[in-house]
Amino acid sequence: MKIITSPKEMQAYVKRARTDGKTVGLVPTMGAFHEGHLSLMRRARAENDIVVTSIFVNPTQFGPKEDYNAYPRDLENDSKMAEKIGVDVIFAPSVKDMYPQGYATFVNVERITEKMCGASRPGHFRGVATVVTKLFNIIPAHKAYFGQKDAQQCVVIKRMSEDLNFDIDIVILPTVRENDGLAMSSRNKYLSDEERRSALVLFKSLSMAKELIRSGELNSEKIRQKMLDIINAEPLARVDYISIVDAETLEDLNEIKDNTLIALAVFIGKTRLIDNIIIDQINPLK
Ligand code: PAF
Repeated sequence: MKIITSPKEMQAYVKRARTDGKTVGLVPTMGAFHEGHLSLMRRARAENDIVVTSIFVNPTQFGPKEDYNAYPRDLENDSKMAEKIGVDVIFAPSVKDMYPQGYATFVNVERITEKMCGASRPGHFRGVATVVTKLFNIIPAHKAYFGQKDAQQCVVIKRMSEDLNFDIDIVILPTVRENDGLAMSSRNKYLSDEERRSALVLFKSLSMAKELIRSGELNSEKIRQKMLDIINAEPLARVDYISIVDAETLEDLNEIKDNTLIALAVFIGKTRLIDNIIIDQINPLK
């Protein structure tokens, strides 16, 4: 497995691979790998001749009071894990490589970035859209893989990719969970044992929402209120948002319908966690 840090060298590598008729799969990450990342790499491995995983903790998607400095970084361990899966190249540029002196260009996806995580983290999706655009230009892959856990990010990247005519298939894979249901996240590393137990409240509230819908409750506000009650009963948890929206447009829904996204962000102590489910088919008899 190669580790490339220079954007120019990376671009030349992918250009050569494509000229040789190879298909290329890209897994963009910020490192600190867990099973969620590995599931994306495995799928990319199965579907492409060449797999590139980028590891870059992108400063432009963190707010000034967020965890950019504390974000876990472990290139050595990440490389070992990626190599076992058969990743061909890790692209690990420095901040200077990606944002050299005088850097002035940003990508702004409008409207769908203004709510949910975008409302609590102003500028976050501008940073994500910018770095993903750069990655798509440096690594013009055939397919790029993202996890459903970051539901709004997936919608934003799909929108951006379509709007900017990127010729890259965006593949979204399901959230990978711990045995007890907690969605895997690099930020779970921040949790104390007690917080780790409290963090289960995200999955519990989503599971309860699913049960309510199964039993015929389709009123979004009632479901939202029941989710709030569960989370508010957990002393270490503080709700940032609970949104019930169309999974493609992110428009608020008063009534649950097919393809509804129920997404939430909750602070567990100081750690902000997100999770979501998609109700793809309402079938109360199931
Ligand atoms: O999901 C992530 O890890 C990041 O937001 C991404 C897509 C790699 C952009 O920095």
